[in-house]
Amino acid sequence: MAQLDGKKAIVTGAASGIGRAITQAFAREGASVLAVDLATEGVAQTATDLVDEGHDVSHQIADVADPQAVDEIMKTAVARHGRIDALVCAAGIPGKGCNILDMTLEEWERMLRVNLTSLFLCGQAAARHMVTTGGGSIINVTSQLSEVTSRDFAHYSVAKAGGAMLTKGMAFDLARKGVRVNAIGPGPTETGMTQYLGEDKREERERLLQRVPMGRWAQPDEIAGAAVYLASDAASFTTGTTIFVDGGFLTV
Ligand SMILES: NC(=O)c1ccc[n+]([C@@H]2O[C@H](COP(=O)([O-])OP(=O)(O)OC[C@H]3O[C@@H](n4cnc5c(N)ncnc54)[C@H](O)[C@@H]3O)[C@@H](O)[C@H]2O)c1
Repeated sequence: MAQLDGKKAIVTGAASGIGRAITQAFAREGASVLAVDLATEGVAQTATDLVDEGHDVSHQIADVADPQAVDEIMKTAVARHGRIDALVCAAGIPGKGCNILDMTLEEWERMLRVNLTSLFLCGQAAARHMVTTGGGSIINVTSQLSEVTSRDFAHYSVAKAGGAMLTKGMAFDLARKGVRVNAIGPGPTETGMTQYLGEDKREERERLLQRVPMGRWAQPDEIAGAAVYLASDAASFTTGTTIFVDGGFLTV
């Protein structure tokens, strides 16, 4: 039996990178998945490829930072699958790297809205369904930068640290209602988000890799295994925690 046989899941950020890899892993482990993203072509491609493999995957185009759009996501998921067993919030933005002296209020607020408020909106909306159907698993994709920061990324680190604490707070509030809430903190991973560190930024890439004891980037499917575990019944006593999948980044 596959690890997620019969589970009904929503994955945001499913057009690319980590969200796409989690959608693929969930579908291949037997889950029915509603794949969500703003990027129209990418999310359709994620779903089409998996349907062609014989899996039950559909997609929805939505902005996870918009409360109305989040309501629509939940309505679609419940109409299509009858319940929500797992929600993975992988949608996110890197934002513009910027020294704190120059950071605009607009950029600060955009970062918090997309990378933190969206977790509140999606998590709360999914949890309201989950508590009526016996429970579920909510998984927030945060970052190793919830624990430490990086030059010019104070806003990103604050959003990710907020995501880690929101995970704990939601886990506490929902612990006796059957809903588990956890986070995954990826380290540097080869995705659309890190493409800006291309060949022309070799020095920056090298500097980042020096902080990773394993000395390499993660591939998105190396992050997906933690999500499969957290959504599965094997994680039945795991709540309020972050699993870091970071090649050892936080050991130093
Ligand atoms: N790549 C890394 O090195 C790394 C490291 C740590 C954490 N993360 C986190 O992992 C998550 C996934 O990032 P990724 O690296 O796969 O990036 P990615 O750019 O490949 O994927 C992010 C996806 O989120 C979508 N998205 C952005 N804003 C959205 C919105 N408002 N509504 C709906 N969809 C939206 C994008 O369209 C994109 O498809 C993010 O939360 C990111 O912060 C990434």
